[in-house]
Parts: sequence; structure tokens; C-alpha cells
Amino acid sequence: MTIEFDAAVFRAPNEPLTVERVSVASTPPPGDVLVRVKASGLCHSDLHVIVGEWEAPTPMILGHEGAGVVEAVGEGVTGLTEGDHVVLSWTPSCRRCRYCVSGRPVLCDLVSEHSANHLSFDGRTRVGAAAGEEVFSFAGLGTFGEYVMVPASAAIVVGPQAPFEQASLIGCAVTTGVGAVVNTAKVRPSEVVLVIGCGGVGLNAVQGARLVGARMIIAADLSDARLEQARHFGATDVVNTGREPLADAVARLTDARGVDVAVEAIGLAQTIEAAYGSLARGGRAVVAGQVADGVRISIDPFVMSDSELQLIGSNYGSSRADTDFPMLVDQYVNKRIDLDSLVTRLITLDQINDGFDDLVRGVGIRTVIRY
Ligand SMILES: NC(=O)c1ccc[n+]([C@@H]2O[C@H](COP(=O)([O-])OP(=O)(O)OC[C@H]3O[C@@H](n4cnc5c(N)ncnc54)[C@H](O)[C@@H]3O)[C@@H](O)[C@H]2O)c1
Ligand SMILES: [Zn+2]
Ligand SMILES: [Zn+2]
Repeated sequence: MTIEFDAAVFRAPNEPLTVERVSVASTPPPGDVLVRVKASGLCHSDLHVIVGEWEAPTPMILGHEGAGVVEAVGEGVTGLTEGDHVVLSWTPSCRRCRYCVSGRPVLCDLVSEHSANHLSFDGRTRVGAAAGEEVFSFAGLGTFGEYVMVPASAAIVVGPQAPFEQASLIGCAVTTGVGAVVNTAKVRPSEVVLVIGCGGVGLNAVQGARLVGARMIIAADLSDARLEQARHFGATDVVNTGREPLADAVARLTDARGVDVAVEAIGLAQTIEAAYGSLARGGRAVVAGQVADGVRISIDPFVMSDSELQLIGSNYGSSRADTDFPMLVDQYVNKRIDLDSLVTRLITLDQINDGFDDLVRGVGIRTVIRY
């Protein structure tokens, strides 16, 4: 028995996604759960694929920022039941490899082997299209379709307190941005934080810095609208780098000391170098933005050793979905983080290409598909 549903399928770079009829088994294989997706955000990582900056197999259902309801549970799955509200994680955990057991599930062996190649944990696809075609699911999820069949550890129960639209953003932007500050950089209240790029990820880095009480939060972007939003999410100072060079602004705002932590949330060589270049002695630059295939950066390693600088990668905010997702819902319910203002447009699946146009043009913060 299969379930048929609509999904936005990526077939070639720089072409609109096509909404097609696809199908998935109605009974999950052992270890999997079938989730009916209720909402999915549009993230810049999907856009990297659409515009051909990241090589990807086709055909593929994009989307990796979703929330929904458990529809069916496969054999051997514990802790999940039909009707549970879940946020989907694009780093499920095998719970056995050395990364999983040491508390770093974003580095899980099975994730890097399979989910990162848009497959399920057994190395296979789960969705089929017309004419028996196999369809890849982005990051092993593929939330631009109304159903996903995922490893049980990709479905994190969060309770019903947060609406699906808001909860879906915990599936990527919120966890990535807040986590970059809280988990990767482990920012302390004494520290000055700079966030470069104030989109879905960057604004969450800003509110992550507010959450941990950073003494000063500088937000940088080219868009005044984004900078206004950054102030709302907790920035104490904003810099339009189209009008003032970042280095000048950082020097002006920090008495020429530099910042303790700089988070790059765009994915460009020049802004990663700028993040690193803005550090005070002993500072750490966190690379959360993801560059197009093949991009390289250049830094001065003498300064790195002399000033004890750190350049740290951050994947999914160094999160542990099992505990971080419910924690973020609590922070939302208790009004310590704002998810409502992140959702600036709701669309139907049919409007998805229009939604990506907004992302390209920087209109709003997050556009969310409501199924
Ligand atoms: N590390 C991870 O695990 C992870 C997870 C999700 C997304 N990402 C990556 O994070 C990046 C940001 O994603 P997003 O969804 O927030 O994107 P977005 O498009 O919503 O935001 C990007 C922001 O950067 C600003 N910007 C662009 N060029 C700039 C420049 N030269 N100087 C200053 N500001 C500039 C834009 O105005 C915009 O506000 C992407 O590369 C995405 O792939 C990484
Ligand atoms: Zn994302
Ligand atoms: Zn693992």
C-alpha cells in the first residue's frame, strides 16, 4: 500500500521546482516513522541547490526545515506514537557510532554516509515518482512534500505548545543560529558577539546571543530592513556594511579591541575572512554560513597562533536534537526566544517558487509552507 502526495521536486539547477505526484509506502519499514508534514520553512541551503551552488542528485524533493505529526511507526521503534507532534531533524542519530555516543550526533557516521547524500539510513530512497523513478529526499528529509519517511531518530517529539509553522523553523534556522552561539561558541555574558548576515540563521544567532546574555551584540548586513529585524531580536548595535566597512565599525564599537565571537551566517569567503579579521585576541570565529562548492578562504596563520584565534565550523549549531528541540520550544513558550516574528509569509506548496524569489530578494525573514 502506498500514499500519494504532492511534492516540489528539483530536477535541474536554475529551473523552477515542479510540483509532482509522488508516493511513499503507507507502512514504515523497521526503524522508520512516517510523518505527515504540517509546515516547512524555505532555507538558503535549499536555494544553494536550486541555483546550482551545491551539486545534488536528481530528482530530489528539497526541504529540510519541517514539523508535523507522526502518522505511522515501524517495527522496533520506541518512544514515538501516532499523533505525536514532531520537529524533523536533518541529523538523525544512529546512537551507536563514536560521535553519537560522545554527544555529537551532527557528526554521526550514518548521517555523513547517507543523510548527507539525501538517502535514508539504509542507503536507499523512500519516495517514488511516476514511471517507477526513485526520488532523493534532501538531507534525508524532503519536507517540500506532505509526507516524509524518516529514521525514528529524525522525528523529535516536542509537544503541541508551538504552532507547526513556528516549530518547523526549529528544524533548521533556529537550531543552527542559536546553537552556533550557545553550543559551538559557548558565549559567556562577558563577551562581545558579532553576527554577520541577518537572515533566518543570523537573526537566530542574534537571539541566541541575547538568550545567553552577551554584553554587546553587533549585527551586520547589507539590508537596513534586516538590521531593523536584528535590533528586534536583540542586537545592541547594527552596521550596514554597504555604507561602513565592517572593520571600521568593529573598531569604532569596541574601542579597537575587536569582538570575542564572530558568527558568519551568509556563506561567502569575504565575510568569513571578515569575521575572522574582526576578532579580539583570544577570539573565535564561527562559520555557520555554508559556501558554494569549491570556495576557499585565506587567513593569516601567524596572527592565529600569536593571538590564539579560533576558526570553528558549526554544523546544525552543534546541536543535540533530542534535547535541544524541546528546550527551544520551552524557550519560545516562555518568551525567551521569538519564533513568531521569524514567520513572515505563509504559502501553499504551489507557491514555492515565488517563495524562493522572496528569499533571493531578501523579502521577509522566513517563508513557510503550510500543508
Ligand atoms: N551550518 C549549518 O548547519 C547551516 C544550516 C542552515 C543554513 N546554513 C547556511 O547559512 C547561510 C544563511 O542561511 P539563511 O537561510 O539565513 O540565508 P538568508 O538568505 O535568509 O540570509 C542571508 C543574509 O545575509 C545577508 N547578506 C548577503 N550577502 C551579504 C554580504 N556580502 N554582507 C553582509 N550581509 C550579506 C542578506 O542580506 C541576508 O540577510 C546559508 O549559507 C545556508 O546554507 C548553514
Ligand atoms: Zn537549512
Ligand atoms: Zn551515529
